Amino acid sequence: MKLRTLDDLKSVKDKRVLLRADFNVPVGRGKVSPDEDWRIRKVVPTIERLSKAGARVVIATHLGRPDGKKVAALKTDPLAKRLSQLLPHPVEKLSDCVGEDVERTIAGMKNGQVVLLENLRFKKGEEENDLAFAQALSRLGDLYIDEAFGTCHRAAASIVGITRYLPSYAGPLLIAEVTALEKVMDAPERPYLVLMGGAKVSDKIGVLSQMLSSADRVLLGGALIAPFFKAQSHCIGATPCSDEDVEAACELMRHPYYKKLILPHDVVIGNPKDLDGPAQVVDLQEEPFDLCRDHEAILDIGPKTISAYSAYIRGAKTIVWNGPLGYFEAPKFSHGTLAIGRLIAARSRGKTFGIAGGGETAVALHRTGLADCIDHLSTGGGAMLEFLEGKALPGLQALRIDEEDSST
Ligand code: 3PG
Ligand code: MG
Repeated sequence: MKLRTLDDLKSVKDKRVLLRADFNVPVGRGKVSPDEDWRIRKVVPTIERLSKAGARVVIATHLGRPDGKKVAALKTDPLAKRLSQLLPHPVEKLSDCVGEDVERTIAGMKNGQVVLLENLRFKKGEEENDLAFAQALSRLGDLYIDEAFGTCHRAAASIVGITRYLPSYAGPLLIAEVTALEKVMDAPERPYLVLMGGAKVSDKIGVLSQMLSSADRVLLGGALIAPFFKAQSHCIGATPCSDEDVEAACELMRHPYYKKLILPHDVVIGNPKDLDGPAQVVDLQEEPFDLCRDHEAILDIGPKTISAYSAYIRGAKTIVWNGPLGYFEAPKFSHGTLAIGRLIAARSRGKTFGIAGGGETAVALHRTGLADCIDHLSTGGGAMLEFLEGKALPGLQALRIDEEDSST
């Protein structure tokens, strides 16, 4: 896919650059925690590059899902604070994301200065891709750069509509994302292994089905496994699992390549309401039906599964990982996710081409201390999955150069 890039641009000096970022990170008690700020850090080199080249950088992002209303807990102030710590100069946070006051402040910016707008999703027009809102945003810049890969699956005004009104380019991070994911989609070196965890099979059925066709093995963990076990009549106790998820699992069981899908041989169970309480390994062969009592849930993959999955990882040339394999936030149930994350990272850069993506996956990977080793840590969760499913992402479509355009 050919996208318009910054290399197509002569100079940004004296220009107001509207930079769409995806700083949608967890903000607890008004603060971004340093092990959850990776989405912000990934855009820092682009901001510095623009600032050093003499641009006036106006950053726009959404945060959470305020649904067109102003929500105090979702203001972008903590993001500006974190960004100020990561950049050599402070970042001013503006009180709105469009309007005359904002336009006036931006008109007074100096070359190299960086400001952050208020949460785009405080305005209804953002998620509705309202053109009047896109046009109002366009008044804040001379050109537009998209670095928000994580939001490219949303047809929002700041992602799609805006490209009608300003000369628009894909930023270096966006290009890196697309290049890494295309490499996996177009010509993965084999064996090509996919590891999927997290929740809701029904949300992931499209991508799982696509992965079963394209990958050599698809290994599952996390809450994704519960509907398969339930469909096979195992007792899964209090493990979250909707009827919709069981239906989705049954549909996948009818997939012509279902044999490529690997489920855990053993799991770790515990009381989800007492995560410091006892944790017990249950072997599916020994306890084929009574995995959990009513108050217990599956919270991690077991040791046999860790070693079986590790063997697959050691044999793979390409790995895509999305979603934790257990409730890794609780130390007792973190072993599977951390062991697998550590191994994927350690095999990257040479032995295997490794990609990981999704908010929780990135946090887990950072906890292994090896996040920097992975070949590509995607800033996209849903966007990465839709890309790998083969869907056209509206944000990328908006920046695409047609073959005819590029030849003229
Ligand atoms: C994400 O976190 O996946 C992106 O920022 C998009 O957010 P959304 O799922 O609320 O649209
Ligand atoms: Mg999302």
